Amino acid sequence: MRYTDQAPQFVQLHHPVPGAVRPELIAGLQETPARIAPKFLYDALGSRLFDAITELPEYYPTRTEAALFTQHGADMARHMPAGAVLIDLGAGSCAKAARLFPVLQPAAYVPVDISVDYLRDTLRELQQRHSELPMLGLGMDFSTRFTLGAAATEWLADRGLAEQPRVVFYPGSSIGNFLPDEALALLCQAHAVCEAGGSGGGLLIGVDRVKPRTVLEPAYDDALGVTAAFNRNLLRHVNRLLGADFAPAAWQHVGLYNAEASRIEMHLQASGTQTVRWDGGERTFADGERLHTENSYKWDPEDFEALLREAGFGAPRHWTDANNWFSVFWAPA
Ligand code: AVJ
Repeated sequence: MRYTDQAPQFVQLHHPVPGAVRPELIAGLQETPARIAPKFLYDALGSRLFDAITELPEYYPTRTEAALFTQHGADMARHMPAGAVLIDLGAGSCAKAARLFPVLQPAAYVPVDISVDYLRDTLRELQQRHSELPMLGLGMDFSTRFTLGAAATEWLADRGLAEQPRVVFYPGSSIGNFLPDEALALLCQAHAVCEAGGSGGGLLIGVDRVKPRTVLEPAYDDALGVTAAFNRNLLRHVNRLLGADFAPAAWQHVGLYNAEASRIEMHLQASGTQTVRWDGGERTFADGERLHTENSYKWDPEDFEALLREAGFGAPRHWTDANNWFSVFWAPA
């Protein structure tokens, strides 16, 4: 059947209310140690700074994963179902998924992102290049709870796609931002989404691996200071969201590997005593005190495989680069 409706459709499940993030931000600022969630790294400038990070020689994950898809994409596709509904978590520019279309031959494409405005532009363009592929943009914060929801499920049913296998695609090692318990919860939800479709579905996920500190730390504390700018920019974002008065220049970027926890941690460290005021409150940070902004977990393949199994997936397989730095897993539902 030819898909004639050339305009991609959108379902917006995430309705940001101005000020809704204030309680969460203030609570984190008042904890000891203080923390701000990594999602606040991504305002418009933060997203551009992250794109710049992916071009840095020290930041190996993006290019290592891209090479795995180029080199092994066809082999991956052999283990995956044809005619799947491809559900792309944190799709952003949709570029990674679009590169898989030729080998995967999906029956529909459902990119999911918290930022629908960005998705709207990229998806319109993508729909023009793939005019026969039904596309549905789904605006939701899948990090709190991931389900397709009634509207997307109906959209699939209306197109006779309810019984197609579902492939959930989660590249980039973004799973690393979650604590192990939270990662398990998200993988369980991804498993439930796959199970609700036809048989043969599963999860295609990129995972950054445990490796020497000498490789990890420069990737998160690069010579040009792009990651430092990315981290400090979070303070500008929080200033706007809270009416706060963080002075970004008074905060040092810290990117270190916590080997016990298998994670990179990003912090911002106060240079000199810093009193930060916002509408309705304030906090004083002592010289050297840190504000925790991100965890990026690194996984051993055996441990990640155990996590996938615990989430309900069948025997996974994975593809790895020659350095054993990054792995892409296919986990059948
Ligand atoms: C987008 C979460 C995969 O953890 O490597 C890059 C974010 N932080 N440099 C990562 C990030 C600092 C990135 N993820």
